[in-house]
Amino acid sequence: MPYTVPKLEDFSPASLDQAVRDLLSAVRQEATAVSGENDSREFRDRWMARKNGILTQVNDLWLKAAPGPSKREVGARVNQLKTEVEQTVDAAQQRIAGSASSARLAVDRVDITLPGIRRPLGAEHPIIKTMREVVNVFRALGYSVAEGPEIEPDYYNFEALNFPPNHPARDTQDTLFVSGQEKKQQRDRLLLRTHTSPVQVRAMLAQKPPIRVVAPGKVHRADTADATHSPIFHQVEGLAVDTNITFSDLKGTLDHAMKSLFGSDVKTRFYPSFFPFTEPSADVQITCFKCGGKGCRLCKSSGWIELLGCGMVDPNVFKFVESNGYDARKISGFAFGMGVERITMLKYGIDDIQLFYQGDVRFLEQFA
Ligand code: PHE
Repeated sequence: MPYTVPKLEDFSPASLDQAVRDLLSAVRQEATAVSGENDSREFRDRWMARKNGILTQVNDLWLKAAPGPSKREVGARVNQLKTEVEQTVDAAQQRIAGSASSARLAVDRVDITLPGIRRPLGAEHPIIKTMREVVNVFRALGYSVAEGPEIEPDYYNFEALNFPPNHPARDTQDTLFVSGQEKKQQRDRLLLRTHTSPVQVRAMLAQKPPIRVVAPGKVHRADTADATHSPIFHQVEGLAVDTNITFSDLKGTLDHAMKSLFGSDVKTRFYPSFFPFTEPSADVQITCFKCGGKGCRLCKSSGWIELLGCGMVDPNVFKFVESNGYDARKISGFAFGMGVERITMLKYGIDDIQLFYQGDVRFLEQFA
């Protein structure tokens, strides 16, 4: 039976004593039975709620109802009783809170002797790796590194590189234009750069001659993806301008670079070619590092592999940067550009360019 507060028949010390003893034994008994946080809250409310808690009832039924002469004595007893009930309730609550927090601690317990969780470490992507290798070859020769935006006005990608407006050479680079620019002058129209060569122009505008820079970066062409084409790929551009730079400087520099990248056994040859921004222009070929020049599938039985484009900076290009000290009568230079994917595929014998972009860890971890 749950405890209820009795009405007092008489207010004699003896019956008061009895009522107090009953109440205290009830509260102590209930206190020991309390388990869990809900229980403990209910227990507190039952005894101490301001509105109709047992202590409030004691106040009403015992103290307020006491006749005048015994008020003083009853008041003292009730006060003492309150203190004892409060202490009992507090103790029960502390017991419950204590065991709840130790339960939480037990749940949160960490076994520090367990082995740790190892997060797999990422590694450099093969394209980035090759790009850095190429850049480092030229840094060792005293080149600095430059970068340019991937979205260029027509002017930097074409016009300042001596592709005149409407010149058919533009068609060889399947350009992706930003839409909705019909109102702009052709030279201001934005496009995704088709090569890193615009960085040549930007670098020369930013730095007076002499200059030696390499510019790694991403380029875009409207090509359909297949085993050897990707609409997004990477190039490393190079530019050296100074007094008396000759074609033999170009040959020596690129021969050194190819030997550093593919091994000191490879030989280079320069094959006539055309780019609007270099004159003369050449394609650089290296002896097939697989068959040593005898002819195999990799070099299509020719013994040679074509790797990059280069040439002497066309005087027409210097005209666009003449205001920054590039006077074609006093200086000369060479430029080159190479495809990073192609170099990487040749170096590692990769037969599908798409493997670089699929993010398959089984492929990528071979380069870690
Ligand atoms: N920009 C040329 C291309 O993308 C390569 C190149 C760079 C050629 C510099 C000559 C000089 O094909």
